[in-house]
Amino acid sequence: MKFNHEFIEKNIGLLGIFTVIAISFGGLVQITPLIFQKDTTVPVEGLRPYTALELEGRDIYIREGCYNCHSQMIRPLRAETERYGHYSVAGESVWDHPFQWGSKRTGPDLARVGGRYSDKWHEVHLIDPRAVVPQSNMPGFPWLMDNKLDGKLTADKMEIFRNFGVPYTDEDIKGAKAAVEGKTEMQALIAYLQSLGHALK
Ligand code: HEC
Repeated sequence: MKFNHEFIEKNIGLLGIFTVIAISFGGLVQITPLIFQKDTTVPVEGLRPYTALELEGRDIYIREGCYNCHSQMIRPLRAETERYGHYSVAGESVWDHPFQWGSKRTGPDLARVGGRYSDKWHEVHLIDPRAVVPQSNMPGFPWLMDNKLDGKLTADKMEIFRNFGVPYTDEDIKGAKAAVEGKTEMQALIAYLQSLGHALK
């Protein structure tokens, strides 16, 4: 029999197999080079892992759903770089598991918010955003002032991240509990915010 289009189109199994091959090829062509490309796998110069307190703050950022309104991904467009600074590069988030890039922006991008405001500003803003930005529709997070960290899991978390290739030393992990115990969730979250974008200003 002649092996032509009609034969494939009328044979659902064969059509399925060829469809999968065609789609996989497209996917592989796009994805495979990224795995071997240094830009996407090697940390940028000056990148340091999160401290124990920043790491706890990052978990609070995720728990409170800040990513629902804030991206951490500055696009390489003039309007964005003028407002937020250098566009984000993949080498800045190779140690972020999972990364917080996002695309939803009810509020501004936070990829380089570190150092833009004082710790006190963040505290006032997070308790009641309208105290410093009257037109803000961001919710307040006052309970972060009352909740204290016990640091029970901090070392374990760092250990897990080390398995993923984050270069934590034994001292970092040993000192983790002491570094966060008794600190408020507010302190941890602010430490995290202040660390954002430190490697590339
Ligand atoms: C419902 C949406 C929403 C959520 C959830 C939200 N924000 Fe916001 N955020 C905003 C908006 C809108 C602004 C801009 C107005 C302002 O500064 O308050 C903003 C501003 C900010 C700013 C100032 C950024 C700048 O460059 O001026 C920071 C920092 C911030 N948010 C942190 C957080 C953190 C941390 C959380 C989670 C605890 C959070 N936000 C949750 C909407 C949100």
